[in-house]
Amino acid sequence: MQQRIRRIAVNTGGGDAPGLNAVIRSIVLSSLRRGWEVLGIRKGYEGLFDTSKIMQLDRDSVRGITHLGGTILGTTNRNHPFEFPVQLPGEELKLVDRSDELVENFRRLKIDALIAIGGDGSMDIARRLGEKGLPIIGVPKTIDNDLSGTVVTFGFDTAVTVATEAIDRLHSTAEAHERVFVIEVMGRYAGWIALHSGTSSTADVVLIPEIPYQIEFVCDKIMDREARGRHFAIVVVAEGARPVDGEMVGKDQGAGREVLLGGIAERVALDIHERTGKETRTVVLGHLQRGGGPTTFDRLLALRFGAAAVRMVAEGKTNIMVALDPPTVLAVPLEVATERLKTVPLDCDTMLTARDLGICFGDGAWDG
Ligand code: F6P
Repeated sequence: MQQRIRRIAVNTGGGDAPGLNAVIRSIVLSSLRRGWEVLGIRKGYEGLFDTSKIMQLDRDSVRGITHLGGTILGTTNRNHPFEFPVQLPGEELKLVDRSDELVENFRRLKIDALIAIGGDGSMDIARRLGEKGLPIIGVPKTIDNDLSGTVVTFGFDTAVTVATEAIDRLHSTAEAHERVFVIEVMGRYAGWIALHSGTSSTADVVLIPEIPYQIEFVCDKIMDREARGRHFAIVVVAEGARPVDGEMVGKDQGAGREVLLGGIAERVALDIHERTGKETRTVVLGHLQRGGGPTTFDRLLALRFGAAAVRMVAEGKTNIMVALDPPTVLAVPLEVATERLKTVPLDCDTMLTARDLGICFGDGAWDG
C-alpha cells in the first residue's frame, strides 16, 4: 500500500546553478496544494546534521524567487556525508562516514521523502542514501550538463547564453586590435559549454576535454585566417581541455574535495603567441556563467522538474531522478544518472555542425 505523504524535505547541493530557486518554488507550491508540509534543508546535506539549519517553507518563503539566481537554501560542495571531513587538534584531516547519523535524523524528523537538487556528486550521495532506505528523488542541476539520463540539466542554457554574449562582445575588440582572444569557459570534464557557446558565437577554435589538442593545429588555423586577411581570432577553451602531451590545469583543494580546474587559457595564449607572434589576451569567464537569474528555458525546465518530482513522490516513486526526454519529463533510476559522466559524443550533431562550419578542435581534422 502506498504511504500517505505528510511532510517532505528539499535541499540544494554542489555548485549553484541558475534555476535552483524556480525548482524550490515549484516543489513548495505543488506540495502545499496536496496538503503536505515542506522543510528546507540548508546547505546541501549539512542541515540534516545540524537541525537548526532546517527551515519551514511556505507560500511566503517562495514568493518572487522564480527569476532569481543562487538558492534560498544555500548550498555547498563540501561535507560529503559519506566522507565528512573531521579535523581534530593535532591530527591529520580524517574523512568519516556520517551517513547513518543523517538517515537517523531524517527518520526522527518524520520526513516521508527528500527531493535532492544537485549535480553528479549530489546524485551519487542520493543513490547511496537511497540504498540505505532513505526515500529520495533527485532533480538534475548543473551548468556543466554532464549528468547522464537527462537530455539537459537546468543551468546549462544560462551558462551558454552568458558565455555566448561575452564572446560576441570580444569579437569587436579582437578585430580592432588584430589580437587573438582565448576565452576560458567552465564545464569541468565535459566540453558542452565550450562547444555550444563557441559554435553559437562563431569561434575559430574550440578546445574541449574530449579532444586533447595539438597547439600546431590551432596555430595553423590562426595563420590560415591571417593569410586570408582576417587578422584576429577567437579561441574558446573549456577549463578541462588539455594538450595531447600534457595534463589538465587545476588546483588540488585537499582531501575530500574535487580538483578546481582553471588556468588552461593562459597556457594556450602563451603557446599561440610564441608560435605565431600574434598578440594574445585571455578572458576567464568563471562564475559569471553561474551567477544571476536563469534564462526562460532554464526557468521553465526548473519549474517542470520541481512539479514532476512532487508528482513522483505522490505516486510513491523513490530512488529516481527526474529527467528531460523531450517532449516529456520522466523518471530514471539514480544508478543510470550516476553510472558515468555525460561527455560530448564526438559524432553528435552539434560537433558535426561545428566541423562543417570550419571550427578547429586542435586535432588536425580541420581542413580550412
Ligand atoms: O560544476 C559546476 C562548476 O561551475 C564547474 O564548471 C567548475 O569547474 C566548478 O563548478 C567550480 O567550482 P567552485 O564553485 O567550487 O569554484
